[in-house]
Amino acid sequence: MKHYLSQIKEALDYLGKEKRLYLVFLLSLGLGYSGMAITISLIPQVLIDASVSGNYEHMKEKLFLYAGLFFMSFLTSILSQYIYRRCVLRFQAGLRRSVMEKKTRLPVSYFENSHSGEFLSQMIYDINKAEELYRSKYKEAFNPIVALITSVIPMFLLDHTLTMLLLFISLLCVLANAAFSERVKTAGRLTAGASAKLSERSTDILSGILTIKEYQLNEVLSGKFRTANKEYAGNALNREKIGAFLEAMNSGFTVLCSIVFLVAGSVMVQSGKTTYGTLVALMNLESSIIWSALSAGKRFPELFDNIASLERIQSFLTMEEEVIHVPDRLEENQNQSFIEFKNVDFSYKNNREVLNHFNMQINQNEVAVITGRSGCGKSTIFKLLLGFYNADKGYIAIDGKSLEEYGANELRQMIAYIPQRPYLFYGTIEKNIRFGNPQASFEQIVQAAKAACAHDFIMELPGGYDYVVGDKGSKLSFGQRQRIAIARAFLKDAPIILFDEATSGLDYESERFVLQAAEQLIQNKTALIISHRESGVRLCNRKIEISSVR
Ligand SMILES: Nc1ncnc2c1ncn2[C@@H]1O[C@H](COP(=O)(O)OP(=O)(O)OP(=O)(O)O)[C@@H](O)[C@H]1O
Ligand SMILES: [Mg+2]
Repeated sequence: MKHYLSQIKEALDYLGKEKRLYLVFLLSLGLGYSGMAITISLIPQVLIDASVSGNYEHMKEKLFLYAGLFFMSFLTSILSQYIYRRCVLRFQAGLRRSVMEKKTRLPVSYFENSHSGEFLSQMIYDINKAEELYRSKYKEAFNPIVALITSVIPMFLLDHTLTMLLLFISLLCVLANAAFSERVKTAGRLTAGASAKLSERSTDILSGILTIKEYQLNEVLSGKFRTANKEYAGNALNREKIGAFLEAMNSGFTVLCSIVFLVAGSVMVQSGKTTYGTLVALMNLESSIIWSALSAGKRFPELFDNIASLERIQSFLTMEEEVIHVPDRLEENQNQSFIEFKNVDFSYKNNREVLNHFNMQINQNEVAVITGRSGCGKSTIFKLLLGFYNADKGYIAIDGKSLEEYGANELRQMIAYIPQRPYLFYGTIEKNIRFGNPQASFEQIVQAAKAACAHDFIMELPGGYDYVVGDKGSKLSFGQRQRIAIARAFLKDAPIILFDEATSGLDYESERFVLQAAEQLIQNKTALIISHRESGVRLCNRKIEISSVR
């Protein structure tokens, strides 16, 4: 029980500065609702007792009092609802922003090691569940408790014996439901996991559709999808089973309560201990109490299902962020080149060593080509220089300052990186080039495109610079995508250029264009070019053979 309470409290703490406002209006919302329910329950008592006894003396005053209380409760609930929702919306926006910003601060290794489908599905599912927690789950779980407590007071005033009996049954009902909370939580977690796997399989089918068709993998992937689907259905069914059982159990409690009330009520009226009006009022309040107990009992386990999602988001938000770290220091007064790798060891997590005592010195405005067999670690050198990964040992520096001293933003500001497969965002060509420098004018964008030998083909596309490149640039050829990426790099105007396999997979004509663009780009810059082809090597005044330095 203590564990559950601390979970509820921790989830509320998570609201931060919104917490107090949220709690105040959660409470006043509950009071507003139950105020309305209680006054509605008590009005019939006044009317029935007055007409049975024929004494109308105090009827008007009481009716005015109840009508006034009803109106106040109504206003309270409307006002609270508005402030409560505003508070939740503010928190929701903050949560989405934190998750989004966190994603961009995570190390590259996180994304390379997780499946994008699973990540997205889990995140969307959990964010929705966490939002639902504050939007409705706390309200649904706590409003009945407020209603229960506030209904008990007039009930006690009307008849305390009957009230004690009903409270006892209600307590049993809540305890029985609470006993299932852990199972509901586990079933929710398993269903969420299975749903993530399902989405992973769907993403595979969507993103790999060309390969699937080419290798006729329909059956294999459909089989995997069916297995994931079955697992999801099994878990969802289990969750439904628990839900159905709880529903049946709660219906049983409702019937039990009604029987107890009817028997006890009849005895009391017959023995003259109460009036017909009081009995009707008690009956109304009793149904409000039972509804409250059942709702609280049912909503509490659901609350923990949502808290589980919030906990996953919390652990995501506290994940270790990207930190640029250089393991070794250089001895004082040692000569350094513009780009310096000294005795660098590196391996990807749980993999064999990629770089071993790797050394590289590049002078300012030097253009060096890096060659070596596939998989020897060429692209890895770029990833280390960009701080995407940290070396296990050794020293990496630019212009006499270790990468650690720069930090991620300053470091990446100095580098224009054209990866092996450049990524284009869904949107226009202009927007894609502009990422290089968001402040650039349209003329500067055109200039960059001209320098990257991209202007002519852009002008031939429908809409020119407004042409939408499709998902990941799929409506452009590889050579065209490369040149857009080069234009982007031009616009960035960084002192260091990293060019990974600029011309691999291009035909002669495209290669010529890309090389021409690259030649322009690297003028008066320090450039590292990964290339297998002689044409790429030609651009450079130095060749670094990776296999020989390993
Ligand atoms: N994210 C990663 N996680 C684990 N291992 C990786 C990862 N990226 C690359 N590797 C491994 O590290 C080694 C070096 O990879 P790298 O991409 O640097 O090779 P490369 O020289 O650029 O090859 P290519 O010429 O084919 O592009 C390879 O054996 C590869 O399997
Ligand atoms: Mg590579």
